[in-house]
Amino acid sequence: MSDLLTTPFPGEKRRGSWRGIVKAQDNNEMTGEAGSGLTYPALLGVLGGGQLARMTGEAASRLGVELAVMEKEPGSPAARIAAREVVGGWLDFDQLAALAEGTLAVTLENEFVDVATLEWLEAHGFVVYPTARTLALVQDKYEQKRFMREAGAPVVDCAPVASVEDVERAGAAWGWPLALKGRHGSYDGYGNATLRGPSDIAPAFARLGFPARALYVERWAPFTRELAVMVARGRDGAIAVYPVVETVQRDHICHIVRAPAPGNAAVIERAASIAQRAVEAIGGVGVFGIELFESPDGEVLYNEIAPRPHNSGHYTIEGCVTSQFENHVRAVLGLPLGATTMTAPAVVMVNTLGVRNGPAEARGMARALAVPGAHVHVYGKLASRLGRKMGHVTALGATIEEAEATARAAADALDL
Ligand SMILES: Nc1ncnc2c1ncn2[C@@H]1O[C@H](COP(=O)(O)OP(=O)(O)OP(=O)(O)O)[C@@H](O)[C@H]1O
Ligand SMILES: [Mg+2]
Repeated sequence: MSDLLTTPFPGEKRRGSWRGIVKAQDNNEMTGEAGSGLTYPALLGVLGGGQLARMTGEAASRLGVELAVMEKEPGSPAARIAAREVVGGWLDFDQLAALAEGTLAVTLENEFVDVATLEWLEAHGFVVYPTARTLALVQDKYEQKRFMREAGAPVVDCAPVASVEDVERAGAAWGWPLALKGRHGSYDGYGNATLRGPSDIAPAFARLGFPARALYVERWAPFTRELAVMVARGRDGAIAVYPVVETVQRDHICHIVRAPAPGNAAVIERAASIAQRAVEAIGGVGVFGIELFESPDGEVLYNEIAPRPHNSGHYTIEGCVTSQFENHVRAVLGLPLGATTMTAPAVVMVNTLGVRNGPAEARGMARALAVPGAHVHVYGKLASRLGRKMGHVTALGATIEEAEATARAAADALDL
């Protein structure tokens, strides 16, 4: 047993001074003080230039804040709406300095950024959220789960993998199937395999790139459904928890999000509580997505946390008073968090995935936009790939069924 959940995090104190436009603020604190605030031009740095950064930029823009975006290739979706584009790898420190110079804070849109990148920024006096320490706690998913278990979260059984025998031992102890997963760099199920029995181990090792890529093995969770929760946490420790949602994955990719998750109030309460405690345990500042499994007996299991805006929170753009993206901007800039209350009784989001390989083209856009009440989002990716996240549609309604029918009608019309 451990008392990690109640241990304050040393990473909370920002060292150095503000670089850039806002000066002489201390850690929290534009929060509510007379005369405090943003001065313009105001820049927020983002490591990564995909749709999450782009939607963060849209939210920032409404507060008069512009993005500085760093991505490995030019022309990323976020760079094309940013005030500053920097091209470089995460350990290209000259480019990192060019990104961060004059920003109010630097944040990230994916967890594959090197911890050393955040450490370098922190060491050079830039404001970085989430912190290097938070990222280090979650980046290796096996270590993340070990940490969360010690912190008291109900984590699915898992073990590191160094050999075929390690997996066979897990199968003997927990039964089959098993989930074999990459410790780093997995997303949208790309780093996962389902093992039905010992003969699946060797092919899965080959497909996942073992031993070059480190793996862990997880007990199968016979869940009845998947839940997710977005949690925003400010620099001052203020917490805003979004409604618990039900997520449906198809081929390991988030397909539908239904808000609020219908069902037993005690289950929903447990899910929200696990999510909040997980963010507090890692001293998170910003917005975080927590994925959970609900078991047949109504238990809630922790799957994983993403230290950034998350696909299961896209519905909040229209569906909540303050979107996940706006609360992320607010949190990392030290502004007060906004309400997470829903704007309708039911909200459903449906992802639109690439249906071809080649230059992106939004076929069916006119039909999708003609669906009354459908909020169509296209991310502006220049290339389409089968299964790639190209956009999403959100709809509000009196019931989940009504909202889902609207969102599906528009998403089905789109052909990206
Ligand atoms: N232990 C498990 N038992 C049963 N199903 C699982 C298990 N682990 C993962 N899955 C299924 O695979 C999906 C993806 O797994 P996970 O969240 O670990 O991977 P990921 O690569 O991070 O994917 P994503 O980016 O979509 O979150 C889960 O949402 C769930 O549907
Ligand atoms: Mg996941």
